[in-house]
Amino acid sequence: MKAVSTIVIAVAFASTVLSGPASADIARGEKNFKRCKACHSLTEGKKLTGPSLYRVYGRKAAAVPKFRYSRGLREAAEKGLVWNRESLMGYLRHPKKFLQKYLGKKRVSNKMVNKFKKKKFRRDVIDYLESVSK
Ligand code: HEC
Repeated sequence: MKAVSTIVIAVAFASTVLSGPASADIARGEKNFKRCKACHSLTEGKKLTGPSLYRVYGRKAAAVPKFRYSRGLREAAEKGLVWNRESLMGYLRHPKKFLQKYLGKKRVSNKMVNKFKKKKFRRDVIDYLESVSK
């Protein structure tokens, strides 16, 4: 019996760890988002220099109506780019390089010039975006 309860506890532990972001990460991510706020709102349709990131997690790229996206991002969207953990990790690290790789060519246009090199910073801000996209 002891072995069984150990397994039960182990499984319960694993599922809390694996079932998505912890609230501490989300809280840090919310702070990190201050570095995006100059250009992005989370209000539907509220355009700044960048498009609104309202419900961006899980949404197709370049999908905000009337926002004038770069040709590069529009092409990536046509190729099926969706914002999830993996794509956001790459895009936020280096938007232009990400688009070059995604489109498989060197000449791409891109309008987001900021790069966020720290993995942990990106991870937390993505946790935050995921948490507010539901
Ligand atoms: C100086 C302004 C600026 C800052 C700061 C900035 N962005 Fe952007 N962002 C843009 C612009 C402009 C675009 C449009 C890119 C294009 O059309 O190529 C964009 C596009 C995006 C997209 C794609 C949106 C879509 O509708 O497909 C995401 C996601 C994104 N930014 C996330 C972030 C996050 C997260 C941060 C902060 C960590 C951030 N950005 C910081 C200007 C900025």
